[in-house]
Amino acid sequence: MKILTVETSCDESAISITKAHKEHFHNRQFSKIYIPGDSLNSQAVLHNEFGGVYPNLAKREHIKNLVPLLMHTLLQADMLHRSDKPSVSKEKLDEVKKILEREPELFAKLMIFFAQYKKPDIGALASVSGPGLAPALWVGVNFIKALSVAWELPIIGINHMEGHVFSTSFPVDYKIGQKESDLRNMEFPALILLLSGGHTELVSSCQLFQYRKLGQTLDDAVGEAYDKVARLLGLGYPGGPHISRLSEEFEKRNAKSNPKFVLPRPKIKDDDFDFSFSGLKTATLRLVESLGGQAHLTDTDKANIAYEFEMAVCDVVVNKTQKALENGEVVYKSLLFAGGVSANERLRSRLQKLANKHKVKFMLPPMPLTGDNSLMSALAAHTRYANLKDKSYITHESLKADGNWEIDA
Ligand code: KG4
Ligand code: ZN
Repeated sequence: MKILTVETSCDESAISITKAHKEHFHNRQFSKIYIPGDSLNSQAVLHNEFGGVYPNLAKREHIKNLVPLLMHTLLQADMLHRSDKPSVSKEKLDEVKKILEREPELFAKLMIFFAQYKKPDIGALASVSGPGLAPALWVGVNFIKALSVAWELPIIGINHMEGHVFSTSFPVDYKIGQKESDLRNMEFPALILLLSGGHTELVSSCQLFQYRKLGQTLDDAVGEAYDKVARLLGLGYPGGPHISRLSEEFEKRNAKSNPKFVLPRPKIKDDDFDFSFSGLKTATLRLVESLGGQAHLTDTDKANIAYEFEMAVCDVVVNKTQKALENGEVVYKSLLFAGGVSANERLRSRLQKLANKHKVKFMLPPMPLTGDNSLMSALAAHTRYANLKDKSYITHESLKADGNWEIDA
């Protein structure tokens, strides 16, 4: 079955078309996926001047992007076919209009699309419906509801963080186009570390779709701390890649000498699995102030601060993950690391070493799937649909965006 999946939870608009065959479905997971189309539009440059994501701007951009992205993805998949008569009836268009009453611009674009193109050969629809920025999520949810009415297809709401979990199943050389990609199946019990711009969670999963949160951040998420510290240092948004690049440069140049500055490792000694990064951010602010403010920082100072900040984050994250692996309550078979921050090379390599030491399988998303994308949620959607017993997960009209949807809810 082919599924069309939409992602609009934050500042990326993305649409993919994927197919998973029943013959590749064993032990409740798929072993192969075919990706005929996948398009993504990142708004990061637009949000740069705010130093973070501005929700209403994100919403406006999603509204602008979705129909062009839909057409691009269908075209890529060779599924965009002209029709000589409108493909959607007047009654259905009225219903679509009602669904999109808060997004009239999106409705106008969809009307033109429905008037010109045939219904594509798609079996089901999916949209990320939480967690994330509510105004942004609603655009994707209403868009998929509109398509569901027009094309008479089932819809499913996918949890964005579960999408990140499934991103670790894709191989580094996954393909878009003709060839199927082999997937790596998750092995349970799994310890899952989710680090993104909005979330910092250690999750225990003893079987597919079951999640138990062991701990989470009490204030800022790791990615958020990266973004805020990057702003303090006058670097761009998103901050993660800037900080980790500076930190690597510092390490290369100063391999033998100690960093000049020291930052705290919050909660590293606590027995729980919770995190706190706002104190680390404040300590970095105080440090910058003590050096006379951003304008007075030398390039070496900036690199040194970036390095020390990254080391503090890594020490805390690796330490808590190790504690969870050694907790004894569950003997884990795998360690999964996902979310935007899983692009960080230092964390990747330190967690890989930790996994080796504990003889657990280490699973990471390929680099292009570390940040938000629709493929990860597409795989979650295929797996959810294939495992449905009572179809209750298919929500139709009742699908709602929920900015605070917890993975273990
Ligand atoms: O998952 P994601 O793309 O969006 C959310 O769902 O939040 O995560 C984005 C976050 C940003 O805060 C960004 O700074 C961070 O991931 N990030 C990184 C790196 N690349 C992106 N953090 C640390 N190191 C990186 N290399
Ligand atoms: Zn994300």
